[in-house]
Amino acid sequence: MPSLAVTPFAVERWFGKYEFTTEINIAESCVQPMTPDELLELAGLGEAERRELLGRVRLGYTDSLGLPELREEVAALYPGTPADQVLITGGAIEANYLLARALTVPGEEFVCLHPVYQQLYQVAADLGARPVFWRLRWEDGFRPDLDELERLLEAHPGARRLVINFPHNPTGAVLSPDEMKRLADIVVRHGVGGGGLLVHADEVYRGLNLDPAAAPSPTIRQFLPDAVVTGSLSKAYGLPGLRIGWIVGPRPVIQKCWELRDYTSISVSALGETLAWQALAHREAVLARNRAIARRNLAVLSAFVEENSVFLEWVPPKEGVVAFPRLLPAALGLGRGPAAPGAGGDPSDRSVRTSRFRDSEDICRVLAEEHGVLLLPGTCFDEPLHFRLGFGYETDRLQTGLARLGAFFRGL
Ligand SMILES: Cc1ncc(COP(=O)(O)O)c(C=O)c1O
Repeated sequence: MPSLAVTPFAVERWFGKYEFTTEINIAESCVQPMTPDELLELAGLGEAERRELLGRVRLGYTDSLGLPELREEVAALYPGTPADQVLITGGAIEANYLLARALTVPGEEFVCLHPVYQQLYQVAADLGARPVFWRLRWEDGFRPDLDELERLLEAHPGARRLVINFPHNPTGAVLSPDEMKRLADIVVRHGVGGGGLLVHADEVYRGLNLDPAAAPSPTIRQFLPDAVVTGSLSKAYGLPGLRIGWIVGPRPVIQKCWELRDYTSISVSALGETLAWQALAHREAVLARNRAIARRNLAVLSAFVEENSVFLEWVPPKEGVVAFPRLLPAALGLGRGPAAPGAGGDPSDRSVRTSRFRDSEDICRVLAEEHGVLLLPGTCFDEPLHFRLGFGYETDRLQTGLARLGAFFRGL
């Protein structure tokens, strides 16, 4: 029977296997989630007000564009954007999916950042479009190379779509305001709107600047008002269980995605929307809680990386709660016995003869199955010598996970 291919989503397959069966999860990309009571307390609601708010939620279908109060709050995150340019979705994952369905032209090229959350290119690729990757490289400290982007767009004049993700999963890299301005200039030069180049920016990690002296990243819409942005309450807000996200963009794009969502979810959860509305209405309190967790844990993680510099190295993340360290040969167990085919390490180093592990996936599997520690292998991002570590949860969970990881390295 003919059917469209759906390529497995490597990150989600890994979590599907290990997320709820591994004792210490330090792979997550969210901040430690809150209970409804914790959230509403942060929002300043007393017990009677909380009961009143939740007591009047009717569990019916809701407006398929989203709760009007919530659309207003989302619009306020993007200066100059009216609420009718907002569609509420089931997480950023539905937002990205609807956009890929709405904007993909089979056979056409599109430019996409890489490494990146697989969904951002895979859905379009499975629909027959051809991704051209704009690479973030370890050798460049994961700094976005805008000259390279310009060269790519020149070399691929048929590309109509540019897909980016800053703050970035999995490296925590950002575009500075100057770089955003330059990116916007490049895009405008390649024609925006009216059949030109459409930017889709997944900004789901915005809001958690790790350096207190640095301002949080602005939205690309500040520099490119026609850009389509996806976001959600899952990451910086620490509320992934609400399953609330959004698309913000030009009205024709919103209209098309609205019509498509008739086939995916109709509307989101009434209870989820009400809590999401409260979270955004009191976002400064929510983000302050979450920044404090992220910064405290980043200090713990930085000390760990320093102490284990024989085994790994990294580019410290700038925003969000994920880091993407690189395994050094000592972490692959190199140097004891005959080399395994395809093992990592410097091939010119003749003293290196063996590896117990081929790549980070081998290591992450052993860590999950034998040591009860969940990390995310870099193979999920086509970077086999890296792994993703999430530092947004309880500090003692992070400390326990890191202690086990350190003991594992020392035992190699
Ligand atoms: C870049 C990016 N976009 C979207 C998502 C989906 O997030 P959610 O659907 O929970 O909002 C994720 C989740 O990991 C992500 O990393």
